[in-house]
Amino acid sequence: MSITKKTVGKVDNKDAILYTLSNNSGLTAEIYNYGGIIKSLKINGRDVVLGRDNFEDYLNNDGYLGAAVGRVANRINRSCFILNGREYKVTPTNDVCTLHGGARGFNAYIWDAEISDGSEPALILRHVSPDGDEGFPGKLEVKMTYTLTASNSLKIDYDAVCDSDTMFNPTNHSYFNLDGHNSGTIYTQTLRLNCDFYTPNNNDLIPTGEVLKVEGTPFDYTTAAVIGDKIHNAHPQAEVAGGGIDHNFAIRGYGFRKACELVSSDKSITMETYTDMPGLQVYTANMLDTGCYKEGAAYGKHTAICFETQFFPNSTEHSHFIAPVMKKDEPFHSSTEYKFTVK
Ligand code: BGC
Repeated sequence: MSITKKTVGKVDNKDAILYTLSNNSGLTAEIYNYGGIIKSLKINGRDVVLGRDNFEDYLNNDGYLGAAVGRVANRINRSCFILNGREYKVTPTNDVCTLHGGARGFNAYIWDAEISDGSEPALILRHVSPDGDEGFPGKLEVKMTYTLTASNSLKIDYDAVCDSDTMFNPTNHSYFNLDGHNSGTIYTQTLRLNCDFYTPNNNDLIPTGEVLKVEGTPFDYTTAAVIGDKIHNAHPQAEVAGGGIDHNFAIRGYGFRKACELVSSDKSITMETYTDMPGLQVYTANMLDTGCYKEGAAYGKHTAICFETQFFPNSTEHSHFIAPVMKKDEPFHSSTEYKFTVK
């Protein structure tokens, strides 16, 4: 195992550093202290996440490739919520909502970094989001720990504490393609979701508050299915999503448990996602722009899939969803693990 670092630029007068973590069983991750962005994730040399070549390319990281997202991932309808009887307005990112934390979220800050090089190499990132940041109440102190475990997982632990009640819903926005980041669409990869229900969206991709069965819909991956066999359909919810999946699913069970499994086309790599969060936003990169990407790769629609573990999106509005309410001075902890098995 090893950790190396390279200074790649400056933001807010702080050094931007790219860390390379490797374990002893074939997993290597490149992670920036800027936005906790995972630039590459190689399993036996195959890079299974989409990314960009240069640090500067991440300063306008459309699509949030590999980035940590917060304070509140996903959409907050009308950019406001009520907490303890008071209405809070957060920075809108379009006419209807706030996406991924506001105008400048976790993804666009340099985090203080510390490394722990042992049998399980880890990068520990810390960030303080001041009271009122993007409209969210309370001074929030966040720690994210990225660990390459001995059992070939990339594990992300989120720890936080806030000096007042607030809303908190962090996630990571990696785009996975198990055939390799530059191998085209994910149509021949196999997906299983341990999810019996999903939350449909309105025309602005904001959950309406309904929770519906996946059974009988193209969103039913309770039995493993080849993505290309299901993704092309005329379901109104798929059309709203721009063709494909851009939905939150309710993960079966409670506590730290398996949410889903993705298998590469040649069946050589399996990735299981485990989390203690209630929801899983599955996004098949329906709106991913063609642009400036790693190694000249041609990314675009359906060339990757994101598994964003989180509280249900827009739970700030729908109090019958599990709330992302974080209580003053009460420590928050959550873990998500992407576990790789190679044949
Ligand atoms: C959302 C998509 C959005 C993407 C990039 C995902 O979490 O569900 O609708 O396009 O992030 O911002």
